[in-house]
Amino acid sequence: MQSDPETAPGALAARPAGALAETGVPLTGGAGLFDHSAHDAFSPSTVRLAGVAALILTVAVAAWLVGANPAFESGKAAGTANQLGAVAAAGGAALEPGSAAAEGAQIIATKPCVGCHTIPGIPGANGQVGPNLAGVASRTKIAAGAVTISSPDDLKKWILNPAALKPGTPMPNVGLTDDEATKIVAFLETLK
Ligand code: HEC
Repeated sequence: MQSDPETAPGALAARPAGALAETGVPLTGGAGLFDHSAHDAFSPSTVRLAGVAALILTVAVAAWLVGANPAFESGKAAGTANQLGAVAAAGGAALEPGSAAAEGAQIIATKPCVGCHTIPGIPGANGQVGPNLAGVASRTKIAAGAVTISSPDDLKKWILNPAALKPGTPMPNVGLTDDEATKIVAFLETLK
């Protein structure tokens, strides 16, 4: 240790050139004035190698995750058929593509039903005029208790001609064909 000469307490005098003990000590590896690298647990080259290895490992794991994820099967981020189906039927049951229920979901989306009812799984079906159709398949009474449902056929009769089952009901006959009504009911039956 060597102290700088002080002309007055607290005041530093100019250093005499070359008079310091540190002069000539090679300062390698340390970030500050003092080189502690001799005390490091790992040598700089080991640390550099570990850094590069960690980077390669990260990229490799990320690449593997992307490759192993079926959602990237098409080569871009999309989703599996199941995941995409789940989005289409968000809030409702995942529908078997091509099934009567899936067709019913497509049909109901094009009908005035969606303007009056909130229907899980049907994008844009957020009507507030009639009851929310979530759980409709589990109901044994509909239309405020006026209509008893003991089979899907009863539900079909209702959507084909509501007033025939409950005179004066505000729900209109929207003019479904028998086939449309069958498929819509197949879909409604998934809303348990
Ligand atoms: C103009 C609005 C309107 C349209 C369009 C409409 N509904 Fe309704 N719906 C209602 C109203 C209001 C009720 C309640 C009727 C009642 O209590 O008498 C209802 C009741 C129902 C119910 C019974 C629900 C329950 O829990 O009580 C079902 C099922 C239903 N509608 C399905 C449909 C389907 C399917 C369509 C399309 C084919 C449709 N609705 C079109 C207004 C509508």
